[in-house]
Amino acid sequence: MKLLLKAVTIASAIVATPALATSWTLAPESSHLAYGTIKKDTVGEVNSFTNLSGHVSPDGKVEIEIDLSSVETNIDIRNERMIEYVFRKAGTATLTAEFDMQEVSKLGVGETSIVDAEAVLSLVGTAVEIDTEMFVARLSETSVMVSTNNMVFISTEDAGVNAGVDKLMELADLPGITRTAPVTARLVFNMDDKKVDAVTGGDIKAGKKVFRKCKACHQTKEGRHGVGPSLHGVIGATAGQSDGFKFSSSLQESGITWTAASLTEFLADPKGNIPGNRMQFPGLKKDEDIVNVIAYLQDKTKG
Ligand code: HEC
Repeated sequence: MKLLLKAVTIASAIVATPALATSWTLAPESSHLAYGTIKKDTVGEVNSFTNLSGHVSPDGKVEIEIDLSSVETNIDIRNERMIEYVFRKAGTATLTAEFDMQEVSKLGVGETSIVDAEAVLSLVGTAVEIDTEMFVARLSETSVMVSTNNMVFISTEDAGVNAGVDKLMELADLPGITRTAPVTARLVFNMDDKKVDAVTGGDIKAGKKVFRKCKACHQTKEGRHGVGPSLHGVIGATAGQSDGFKFSSSLQESGITWTAASLTEFLADPKGNIPGNRMQFPGLKKDEDIVNVIAYLQDKTKG
């Protein structure tokens, strides 16, 4: 049901914007996430995390995992105390955000842009909302860099780590540690090989495999009809109109326009969706297969 709703909202867009997008994976060696602390009002120190991982899905959902045990304060005992008292051995923190990947995909190599980002940092059981601007640079065809445009401040109270900071002060016999930490990030993402349809989010390669089930009857080349009609240019076309194929009248008179939404319903249950049509196929059971085969058709059979 969720899938259907999604397909309906994108139905018109898929015809208008056949743009393809990919997913992206964080390149840990070129990425850097750091925060600052100030003790005794005067001594500023930089801490960072050396172990980051993450990815961005084609629709711009960013997920970054921060291995809290990889914190680097440049002093071993401080690393240990940080992990034990501040991060309370929580393992990983996750940063999730929504990002306009269409905007990013439009950037030419060497071009930059500033985009809004709304992120949520989940740290030791507390979620901190972050609303900020990010600076994006397209480094190459296959890589982008995203960095904080300004410093981002995270309050230790919001982050739920105040008690841990108290403990650090006590252990290190410090009169004070500031209760807000500036955070900066530089994240480099590489494009994944996998080709994903920007609008449906379907995986084109996986869709090609699903299409094997259709191949007994359908080809994607123009005008090549078999048991079933050629599916060339099918997305955006009116049902039952392909030249040179004798369609059943039920399909021909259905008045359907093939969009991601209508195909989703048809492929899930061909007989139920258009009673009386002559496609001898029980339908695809998995939502995933449907999304992927539509992505494949979208890519392969452009009109
Ligand atoms: C056993 C043969 C067979 C298989 C397998 C099959 N189809 Fe069909 N398909 C047909 C026939 C025959 C029609 C025409 C039905 C009619 O005229 O009522 C058709 C019609 C269609 C149409 C409508 C085309 C148009 O121009 O309106 C689409 C879309 C379609 N099939 C997609 C698929 C996909 C995707 C698969 C695999 C998941 C598939 N079919 C599997 C035989 C098949």
